[in-house]
Amino acid sequence: MKPKFITLEGMDGAGKSTHIDSIIATLQACGHEVVSTREPGGTALGERLRELLLHENMHAETETLLMFAARREHISNVIAPALLRGAYVLSDRFTDATYAYQCGAKGVDVDKIQLLEKWVQGDLQPDVTLLFDVPVEVSIQRLANAREPDKFERENADFFARIRNAYLRRAKENPRRFRVIDANRPLEEVKRSVEEIVSTL
Ligand code: TYD
Repeated sequence: MKPKFITLEGMDGAGKSTHIDSIIATLQACGHEVVSTREPGGTALGERLRELLLHENMHAETETLLMFAARREHISNVIAPALLRGAYVLSDRFTDATYAYQCGAKGVDVDKIQLLEKWVQGDLQPDVTLLFDVPVEVSIQRLANAREPDKFERENADFFARIRNAYLRRAKENPRRFRVIDANRPLEEVKRSVEEIVSTL
């Protein structure tokens, strides 16, 4: 089986979204159907939940439950049907983000997240996860130059460090699935690394 479910992860400001269009173009050039989507979001209901998640303060467990509620919808309406008909699915974030943000940074119990993961996803896991990794200071600097921050992007350096560590730990625990990309390099170099990985898919 070809690896078809691809996810992009990284701290805010790591630059993952910059690469989406070129990944789609590379896969399409090989004649594949590509469904590009994102989390939280990806469905009409999921996008409404995203609005709440990114802008309303709430208990970290409420946040976790809403992330998985949006994910349930996303899997049944978008991801599963696409994979079933043989399309590639490229998702800008998925469950690793819940482990990094809600568990790693906000301290939600990992057992609770694993329970929800099993409930909502069954055996569904991404085949390949590109983790865009940058030092915390770089991420914060990039965000400072960007548009109006959402609630996650307004957090402090400690919060970002916990996210980064949680992502790197997940990558270490799942070495077959993760490809860690050093995103603290000139854009062209990062792009070349991404293309090398995508060409093997
Ligand atoms: P992001 O993917 O960075 O989108 P944009 O590029 O438009 O800012 O924003 C999504 C935010 O949601 C990001 O800060 C991480 C957060 N998030 C979680 O905290 N948990 C999750 O499970 C997911 C999917 C996202």
